[in-house]
Amino acid sequence: RAVMDILALKAKETNGAEPEKKPTPRPKPKQPKKAKRIVYFEVEIVDLKTKEKLLLLDKVEPTATVLDIKALFHKSYPRWYPARQSLRLDPKAKCLRDEEVLQTLPVGTTASFYFSDLGPQLTWGTVFLAECVGPLVLYLMFYFRLPFIYSPKYDFTSSKHWVVHLACICHSFHYVKRILETLFVHRISHGTMPLRNIFKNCGYYWCAAAWMAYYINHPLYTTPFYGQQQVNTGLYSNFVFFLLQFCQVGNFSIHVALRNLKLPGSKVKRIPYPTKNPFTWIFWLVSCPNYTYELGSWIGFTVMTQCVPVAFFTLVAFIQMTVWAKGKHRSYLKEFRDYPTLRSSILPFIL
Ligand SMILES: NC(=O)c1ccc[n+]([C@@H]2O[C@H](COP(=O)([O-])OP(=O)(O)OC[C@H]3O[C@@H](n4cnc5c(N)ncnc54)[C@H](OP(=O)(O)O)[C@@H]3O)[C@@H](O)[C@H]2O)c1
Ligand SMILES: *[C@@H]1O[C@H](CO)[C@@H](O)[C@H](O)[C@H]1NC(C)=O
Ligand SMILES: *[C@@H]1O[C@H](CO)[C@@H](O)[C@H](O)[C@H]1NC(C)=O
Repeated sequence: RAVMDILALKAKETNGAEPEKKPTPRPKPKQPKKAKRIVYFEVEIVDLKTKEKLLLLDKVEPTATVLDIKALFHKSYPRWYPARQSLRLDPKAKCLRDEEVLQTLPVGTTASFYFSDLGPQLTWGTVFLAECVGPLVLYLMFYFRLPFIYSPKYDFTSSKHWVVHLACICHSFHYVKRILETLFVHRISHGTMPLRNIFKNCGYYWCAAAWMAYYINHPLYTTPFYGQQQVNTGLYSNFVFFLLQFCQVGNFSIHVALRNLKLPGSKVKRIPYPTKNPFTWIFWLVSCPNYTYELGSWIGFTVMTQCVPVAFFTLVAFIQMTVWAKGKHRSYLKEFRDYPTLRSSILPFIL
């Protein structure tokens, strides 16, 4: 029985190695196949640091991708799943991309790959979710004035300023929207990122949210403007609230447009253009309108709360998004020769 099983397995392996061949139910072991001789590759995997030989794969198909090799390596070393592995042809070269095909690489029929471990990995979706859930929960803790945040006499009290409640609605809505978008809208094409990134990213978002929430929901919070012009405040803050939601809808429209641009599973890049949705018409003027709208909502939030920490984070976000937008804009220009010349990165005609 065992011998039969092994034979069956062998047969399966050779079948798998030759996708062009029609599956025959019982291939004879020594079938002459001169018509299509495949030159198999011999692949050796070496540890980048210790130079120790980790694995020798003989008979690797020439059409195997780097990802296939990673999968084979994973079979022998279960703790290193493919996303954790980095493979390169030379210790000093860049990591090979998963899509690269063995026979197009600059190697002979025997290839050595240098392996290094990238450490535990998380998917982008997980990181996005962790980034968003923290601020949502933290902000609400300050809003409801849970004990040990402000002085005990204020526990579970609520602000008498309308704008504090509006700000809480905006903040919560923003993060709920981001969570739902991560779950249902984004087609994330990046693989994974190292576990330690989550501490960096979340650290920033969570601290920022807590710092702003502390000031906005503080029992002694007042703003110069709302203090003086009692009459207009309701109208004014409602107007800002409206502008903010306008930006949120715009931002969402852009995310939907980007999603539709990308077919599921495909890596083909295309130029985003305005669609029937008027919120996307800003694509005529900027490359990254999602960041333009985000800047708009940050400015709205600053004007609404008139709070120094919020203004500070608006500035930080603006600088960060400008860096990303300029990078994206440059790569669009490089990738597409017919890229619309009217577009700037993030601010129409300015930046
Ligand atoms: N280091 C950087 O340069 C950099 C830049 C931006 C964001 N980030 C990180 O990402 C986080 C949030 O950034 P983000 O919200 O702007 O998300 P993002 O990670 O930049 O992108 C989210 C999704 O939209 C897709 N997408 C964007 N433009 C596309 C296009 N033209 N065609 C097809 N798909 C497109 C992206 O796929 P594609 O990746 O295939 O475009 C991705 O799936 C931050 O926490 C930051 O850490 C880093
Ligand atoms: C925002 O737009 C930029 C440029 O099109 C893109 O790279 C980025 O992935 C977008 N962000 C999201 C969350 O879709
Ligand atoms: C807008 O999009 C960016 C990235 O595309 C996202 O990170 C941000 O949270 C969104 N902002 C708003 C106001 O929805």
